[in-house]
Amino acid sequence: MKLRIININRLVNVREEYGLLRGAALAELPTMEHAFLDIENGLIADYGSMESINELGIASDTAIYDAAGSTVLPSWCDSHTHLVFAESRESEFIDKIMGLSYAEIAAKGGGILNSAIKLNALSETELYNLAWERLLELIALGTGAIEIKSGYGLTVEGELKMLRVIKKLKEASPIPIKSSFLGAHAYPLHFKENHQGYIDQIIQEMLPVIAKEKLADYIDVFCEEGFFSVDETIQICKAGMAVGLQPKIHANQLNVSGGVEAGVALGALSVDHLESMNTAAIEALAASKTIGTLLPTAAYFLRMAFQPARQLIDAGCAIAIASDFNPGSSPSGNMNTVVSMSCIQMKMLPEEAINAATLNAAYAMGVEDLLGSITRGKLANLIFTKPIPSVSYLPYAFGSNLIKNVMVNGVFR
Ligand code: NIG
Ligand code: FE
Repeated sequence: MKLRIININRLVNVREEYGLLRGAALAELPTMEHAFLDIENGLIADYGSMESINELGIASDTAIYDAAGSTVLPSWCDSHTHLVFAESRESEFIDKIMGLSYAEIAAKGGGILNSAIKLNALSETELYNLAWERLLELIALGTGAIEIKSGYGLTVEGELKMLRVIKKLKEASPIPIKSSFLGAHAYPLHFKENHQGYIDQIIQEMLPVIAKEKLADYIDVFCEEGFFSVDETIQICKAGMAVGLQPKIHANQLNVSGGVEAGVALGALSVDHLESMNTAAIEALAASKTIGTLLPTAAYFLRMAFQPARQLIDAGCAIAIASDFNPGSSPSGNMNTVVSMSCIQMKMLPEEAINAATLNAAYAMGVEDLLGSITRGKLANLIFTKPIPSVSYLPYAFGSNLIKNVMVNGVFR
């Protein structure tokens, strides 16, 4: 099945060759005006200017779709989510309005532990159905690939249940999914005074099953004061690496935790959050291949200082942006909001935010050969906008739904 899309006003992030973007390159968003795009078997087959179309001719088995002035972008890649969870936590939202901090809510048994109790009470099927609905909502909002973490089980059964749900989502999903094992998200109450006991459970009881059943692509740890120390993080990541899981860790959200340097030393694919950064952490990240994934909606929801995106970019760090969709600190997986907030609150240029949410985000979840740019051979997972005056209008008009329709594997949804 061949499809030719004609009359594209702007085709965004067109790249014959691509690589991870850092520094000034992040602001370069190659765009083709008045373009066509050919799709074959769900993949991008060709593109070019509308003027060149007559020379190419058209095969008789090719369908034509008139984009009628839409801007077309590669779908968002959301490289950090906690999409599988049991219940929303708006009572904590009220606690926060009343003045409690994230750490205080966690300390009184709320937060992650609260989500774990709820999750352990649900069946695999119930969790799957809830997550599936969320996934469909995000696809309609332009997400074309997603990473999903465990971490609300915190027991052997609970963590494996979450990972099996993610595996089933992978099998049924029209978009690529990557799975991260985040057993080290918080210490269960009965291991509060016995950290090594829980770490032993992770390493001896969870990881072997995960490896055997191929339940995860990455290993994640919440490296944070009051959660997992740097030494604990390294121990857990090394055990994950021994069974083939690359680290992709939560670092420097609430404090300068040393998590960034630990992630870099371990060769993590990404270190995520980065609300709290100092010069040493920025320099370590800039000198590495590890991607810094910024989660501005989590900073927004928790009323924290935003990630220092400008400093990171100017220092030469490779950065991506993601939603952190979860019931506690970012109850939204809307990547359009993430892109807007990155510009409004972190002073990223629209071009930088779009690159960080597409190509660099694809790298941050290991799907750069499938997604992240308009490149021949990549998946035709695309966003078609309503008519917009410029690409900058997307993050600027932060409250408007500017998506006309989305395409996944060459098919409109
Ligand atoms: O990425 N920081 C740790 N984990 C999540 C929040 C989890 C929760 O509060 O349920 C995050 O923000
Ligand atoms: Fe997270």
